[in-house]
Amino acid sequence: MIDFLAKMPKAELHLHIEGSLEPELMFELAQRNNIPLPYASLDEVRLAYQFESLQDFLDIYYASAAVLITEQDFYDLTWAYLKKCAEQNVVHSEIFFDPQTHTQRGISFKTVIHGISRALADGKSQLGISSLLIMCFLRHLSAEEAMQTLVEAAPYKGQLAGVGLDSSELGHPPEKFTEVFAMAAEMDLPAVAHAGEEGPAEYIWNALKLLKVKRIDHGVRCVEDPELVAILRDKQIPLTVCPLSNTKLKVFEQMSQHNILGLLEQGLNVTVNSDDPAYFGGYINENFIALYRALAMSQPQAVKLAQNSFNASFLTDKEKQVLL
Ligand code: ADE
Ligand code: ZN
Repeated sequence: MIDFLAKMPKAELHLHIEGSLEPELMFELAQRNNIPLPYASLDEVRLAYQFESLQDFLDIYYASAAVLITEQDFYDLTWAYLKKCAEQNVVHSEIFFDPQTHTQRGISFKTVIHGISRALADGKSQLGISSLLIMCFLRHLSAEEAMQTLVEAAPYKGQLAGVGLDSSELGHPPEKFTEVFAMAAEMDLPAVAHAGEEGPAEYIWNALKLLKVKRIDHGVRCVEDPELVAILRDKQIPLTVCPLSNTKLKVFEQMSQHNILGLLEQGLNVTVNSDDPAYFGGYINENFIALYRALAMSQPQAVKLAQNSFNASFLTDKEKQVLL
């Protein structure tokens, strides 16, 4: 089964490129750019990666991103992830990036997007990996700052497949960003949003109704509202679920309690993703393996999850046919 999961072609739809910064590369970039790190060794890093909540994780995640300075740094970060994709038979990836994490510390939008996009182009030509880029707004910052980021992104619109919403969920509901997402829609940028990770089912409703998202990132708290579950099923709205993330951030205490296969069996369009693999103990294959070990996921269930990942992607039908 483990071999089957590894070889199965997969698409990844929920991956924060900053969350793929492995400790080894973080040390290398810190040295290259002369940035002090709060860790003396890789062991110390591993000890620090114990989280009680999303915010616990985000504090460390944003601090670590400070080692990313030059276009080459963003290239190296992205290239390392694409090599992982090649190893794990991820043939298509829709990658989130958080420009505000970088522009807030004086790194230009251009530096960030050029480095990432150049690696994505090489990923296509050298590794055969198809990819799309989704720009996320940090929801703990203001709607005005998100709007400014959207304006700043306008010249690079051709390199973006859509917009997303991430960071601290509780206290920052979707309605805070209604106008920003309306503007993105006018720019023909489709939307996704994190909702129902730590936040309530109501945030999923409002992401759908007000932000008009095509997919929900996480969404596992939908089970608290049966009417919402029925809508998600009937409309086949994809949920990009991240099992290892959810257990690391204590959304579920144990993988055996995770609801992804329950949702799949109810006919929801759920997919498996790694979120921030450098922080949560694994890439997409490790997420599939965890579901097999803790929840006895069957081969047909794994195949359905992988099929969902292609169906839920922003690829055209023609592009999907070429990949599969
Ligand atoms: N940014 C990176 N990972 C995230 C997550 N799991 N939830 C919200 N924001 C994030
Ligand atoms: Zn995420």
